[in-house]
Amino acid sequence: MCGIVGYIGKQNAYPILLKGLKRLEYRGYDSAGVALLNGDINVYKKQGKVTDLEDYCTGQDTTGSIGIGHTRWATHGEPSDVNAHPHVSMNGIFTIIHNGIIENYSYLKGSLEEQGYAFRSETDTEVLANLIEYIYRSQEVSAEIAVRLALSKVIGAYGLVILCSEEKDKIIAARKSSPLVIGLGENEYFLASDATPIIEYTDRVIYLDNDDVAVIKMDELVLKTTVRDDALAARVQTLDLGISEIEKNGYDHFMLKEIFEQPRAIRDTFRGRLNLEKNEIKLGGLYNVYDKLIEAKRIVILACGTSWHAGLVGEYLFEDLARVQVEVDYASEFRYRNPVICKEDIVIAISQSGETADTLAAIQLAKESGATVLGICNVVGSSISRETHAGVYTHAGPEIGVASTKAFTAQVTVLTMMAMMVARSRGLIADDRYAALLNELEAIPGKIEKILEHDDALKEIATIYKDVTNALYLGRGVSYPVALEGALKLKEISYIHAEGYPAAEMKHGPIALIDENMPVVVIATRDNSYEKIVSNVQEVKARNGVVIAIVTEGDDTIVKMADHVIAIPDTDPVLVSLLSSIPLQLIAYHIAVMRGCNVDQPRNLAKSVTVE
Ligand code: G6P
Repeated sequence: MCGIVGYIGKQNAYPILLKGLKRLEYRGYDSAGVALLNGDINVYKKQGKVTDLEDYCTGQDTTGSIGIGHTRWATHGEPSDVNAHPHVSMNGIFTIIHNGIIENYSYLKGSLEEQGYAFRSETDTEVLANLIEYIYRSQEVSAEIAVRLALSKVIGAYGLVILCSEEKDKIIAARKSSPLVIGLGENEYFLASDATPIIEYTDRVIYLDNDDVAVIKMDELVLKTTVRDDALAARVQTLDLGISEIEKNGYDHFMLKEIFEQPRAIRDTFRGRLNLEKNEIKLGGLYNVYDKLIEAKRIVILACGTSWHAGLVGEYLFEDLARVQVEVDYASEFRYRNPVICKEDIVIAISQSGETADTLAAIQLAKESGATVLGICNVVGSSISRETHAGVYTHAGPEIGVASTKAFTAQVTVLTMMAMMVARSRGLIADDRYAALLNELEAIPGKIEKILEHDDALKEIATIYKDVTNALYLGRGVSYPVALEGALKLKEISYIHAEGYPAAEMKHGPIALIDENMPVVVIATRDNSYEKIVSNVQEVKARNGVVIAIVTEGDDTIVKMADHVIAIPDTDPVLVSLLSSIPLQLIAYHIAVMRGCNVDQPRNLAKSVTVE
């Protein structure tokens, strides 16, 4: 959600903060602010993008070698200058930035108002700033103790970074359910909500755990918890992330770069895991739960957004190949539905960021019920990867564009490998079929490369349909989640209303919408429901609908019926979503660019949704 940066050391903090905020802008981009400590604490904040903040700061005093910065995605209070972070406590003693939500903020605010506190903003963060200040003054304790006491009264989630005007040698940071990482330099420390702003300065980092509180001076870092006063040992890790992975490298947008990176991303996902010579798949992260996985009577997949669509593909794969009953749930629905969870269940949580609040909460619920919880995450060291019993990283590399692309295909790749492994261990897949699938999976990146070569043709289709107001996406079987994902891509970045439907369901409602102005994207690749989808295409054409069809190379039936045809290389039907999703990503991308939309940072969205 929001992005947090901080710096303490000998350098001028402002340029480091600004660069970091730009790297983190994908997490939230409705307002931004910085606080710089140089004798006094100067706070500058502005509604809009980080560049608006930069313009606003031009000519102001931005000196200081201690500073904190924030880019916001509004939860409490509209995006505005006053609601932007940092927030300063009423008497100016504490300046704080915060990611997350203080759920009991209204109660705390009432109590503080009774003590004479007044509030400038509508945010929960300002309540926290004043609570810390109130405790600091009334109990005459140090800033660190005031923070820890205040946090013990707070219900909710936070990644917090705090400056105190009466203890100017330090930054205090705390975490609960909202990520914070500290980079270790030579007599300097960097803070951020993920490692991307830190990587160019150091690869030595400490990820804060829930309830950790860090007191950071230029030459010292002390780690405690909210409730325990004794110092914890620092858990220093080495980052495995290159700077080129978080830059656009000549592409106009991160999204386009990430679409084109998919052959590489998928190869990285199965690197060291697929062994064609030995005809085997190894997923080391699952070793200690493997017996439970192959014996599972039921798999429950939990996720949100695009990851949920990958989960639907996973349902198809596990049921088809491994004959396990699978349920796929939106994490947010699962946790509020009093779901039936058994100890023998395997729960798979899928998340690119590994920080999605609803998915984290659903994991908690599943763990409390005794289920074995596995994670499929892209971000190494993320909360979900640490909260789950075991798991598999996708290794797609950092995904910065808000609309997920390479993370989706990498998640599907992992799910495919898992389903194949389980199928084999259960004796449900013949060796030759297994070997054929393994070879096909290995060939997928090359086939994606071929699809990417047709980008210009996809751009032409985008030119024709860029001004439509609605679009329908249809698919059957494993192509149904692809239809959902294609529609989601279009709506989230181009703001065109688009819906995905199982093709056969069209006749139960959406068919009423079809006329000559309604483009219908049909995923009609060759499989055992091909004849049925041919009929669906006919139904659309009979009502003057416009059909854009994704077909298998060599198709000679739909080619004659559809208005536009995008042919993709042939593959095993089990793997086809890895190919058919690519043209849909590119069409959505080009339409959004042609409509002048901000592709990487679509309105109202955020990359990592750390609020429920
Ligand atoms: C946000 C993003 C989506 C993403 C979803 C789930 O809505 O904009 O692209 O699919 O969160 O995120 P996760 O990190 O859990 O996969």
